Amino acid sequence: MHPSLLAKSLSLTVVLMGFAAGCSTTPKPELTSEQIMEEGFKGKTSLAARLSENMGTQADKMRMVYLTQQLALNQPPKGDLASWTEKTTALTLAAVALEKGSPDALVSWKAAADCKKCHTAHKPD
Ligand code: HEC
Repeated sequence: MHPSLLAKSLSLTVVLMGFAAGCSTTPKPELTSEQIMEEGFKGKTSLAARLSENMGTQADKMRMVYLTQQLALNQPPKGDLASWTEKTTALTLAAVALEKGSPDALVSWKAAADCKKCHTAHKPD
């Protein structure tokens, strides 16, 4: 494995382990869920939409890894934390898979980036 990829996988693992342990040193998010939605998900030509159409550049994929990690660090504005952690972890792992070019990445991404499913559970009215 390329060293920088290894470093990324390791840092992701640390972030995810922080959740699992309910670790008090879990870093504070730099972006709010609202900012992440505005930058990466909103609209037909969003970053998320480009990725779903398999049109994302490598830079798009790297940005989405960051955005999904940030989303996972936020508290859900609605709904329970277990469901939020499950959805945002799946989303982050799918973005990492896209970035790495894993074979099933696109299928996992489309499943994880289900706007309605997450909004129904976690988006306030
Ligand atoms: C893993 C969960 C999750 C997924 C997947 C998700 N969203 Fe969101 N989205 C949220 C949450 C949570 C909010 C509410 C943020 C808040 O109000 O703090 C939100 C809010 C929004 C908003 C309103 C932002 C604003 O300005 O207030 C838009 C637009 C949006 N999402 C678009 C999308 C689209 C389009 C997709 C699918 C391509 C998507 N989202 C996928 C969790 C998600």
